[in-house]
Amino acid sequence: MLAMDYRGPYRVRAVQKSTPDIEHPNDAIIRVTRSCICGSDLHLYHGLVPDTRVGTTFGHEFTGVVEEVGSSVQNLKVGDHVLVPFNISCGSCLYCQNQLYGNCHEVNPGATAVGGIYGYSHTAGGYDGGQAEYVRVPFADVGPYKIPHDLDLDDAVLLTDVFPTGYQAAEMGGVKEGDTVIIFGAGPVGIFAAKSAWLLGASRVIVIDQLDYRLEFVKRFAQCEAYNFREMEDPVVFLKKITDWQGADVCIDAVGAEAAGSAMQRLTGVKLKWQAGSAIAVQWAINSVKKGGVVSIVGVYGPTGNLIPLGNAVNKGITIRMNQASVKRHLPRLIEHIQAGRIKPSEIITHKIPLEEVAEAYHIFSSKLDNCIKTILVPPSEMH
Ligand SMILES: NC(=O)c1ccc[n+]([C@@H]2O[C@H](COP(=O)([O-])OP(=O)(O)OC[C@H]3O[C@@H](n4cnc5c(N)ncnc54)[C@H](O)[C@@H]3O)[C@@H](O)[C@H]2O)c1
Ligand SMILES: [Zn+2]
Ligand SMILES: [Zn+2]
Repeated sequence: MLAMDYRGPYRVRAVQKSTPDIEHPNDAIIRVTRSCICGSDLHLYHGLVPDTRVGTTFGHEFTGVVEEVGSSVQNLKVGDHVLVPFNISCGSCLYCQNQLYGNCHEVNPGATAVGGIYGYSHTAGGYDGGQAEYVRVPFADVGPYKIPHDLDLDDAVLLTDVFPTGYQAAEMGGVKEGDTVIIFGAGPVGIFAAKSAWLLGASRVIVIDQLDYRLEFVKRFAQCEAYNFREMEDPVVFLKKITDWQGADVCIDAVGAEAAGSAMQRLTGVKLKWQAGSAIAVQWAINSVKKGGVVSIVGVYGPTGNLIPLGNAVNKGITIRMNQASVKRHLPRLIEHIQAGRIKPSEIITHKIPLEEVAEAYHIFSSKLDNCIKTILVPPSEMH
């Protein structure tokens, strides 16, 4: 089969690999119909995630048709069209029972922090991902969700990660009626966090980024205020000023480890790797939230520590919440929002690129060329 192949930082290509087989009675083999490139894949592509092995296939956001099921699979049958949450989860451990599917304890042996994620390095379990024609889906009775007939495939694939993650960001922020919410990052995750803040009752939504084309898009898509931090002398002072010098009720980090905006954070976090990524977006979030407010982090960081202003967080009495999104938990509610016409996720898709051209697709998304927001890779069988 054709599959994306990681060759080292900034080097990926499409190659022929052997098609995956059923390895366990609860596995399914899925023929991929759509897969996306995510901001999280960029951390892999840039060589920032430990134990990203040459020869692995990325891709944790995909839809597909069930091609084969193991002998114990009960909820799926051959021919079902499913969307597959990026988290691999067993469905029965203590965490899964509490719907913390992103924190499953059984799918990444030996790891005490991160769970299992498709195509996300051996740190996250060493599973091959869906930027391929076929993918093996373990615990097939737990993750895959049958795509309702009235749901567009391009909307469905965005339910595997970025929409639920943006939604969970707002949910962890405890966004409630009347709140002012600031979101750092106008990538797919920040865009959905902005829309979700309204869905949860916010009365003011502000998005910060450095790319004007994304700020313009989020303004239209989520009807929010949007500002470029490159035009501000000090983003924290600017944000305080426009929030009556109090700050926001909720601040969301939808940027993660590669945040721009501080030479010191970039040097220590991205170049020298003395900390697990640049923490400037979290720093701005802590400093521009109200006393007693909530900072919600969905941006991804590595396994060691980061430089954040802990003293300010303590003295302001803020709550910091964070997690990998538990995609499965949000699906019924988010599908309702789509069916009711409150949101059309696929409007964020700017590029549909054949899987064969995966190298070009990563380059465009990584370098933010051609006003790129979200890229979908289309396998040969779906090119019509
Ligand atoms: N927790 C989860 O479950 C989960 C799921 C999906 C993605 N993520 C993470 O969320 C983050 C965003 O993902 P994405 O797909 O939107 O990525 P993306 O790379 O498309 O978007 C990130 C955006 O942040 C902007 N940015 C850079 N520095 C900034 C700063 N200091 N302040 C404000 N904006 C800044 C960039 O210009 C870019 O537009 C990534 O770290 C990704 O790994 C987490
Ligand atoms: Zn993702
Ligand atoms: Zn589990």
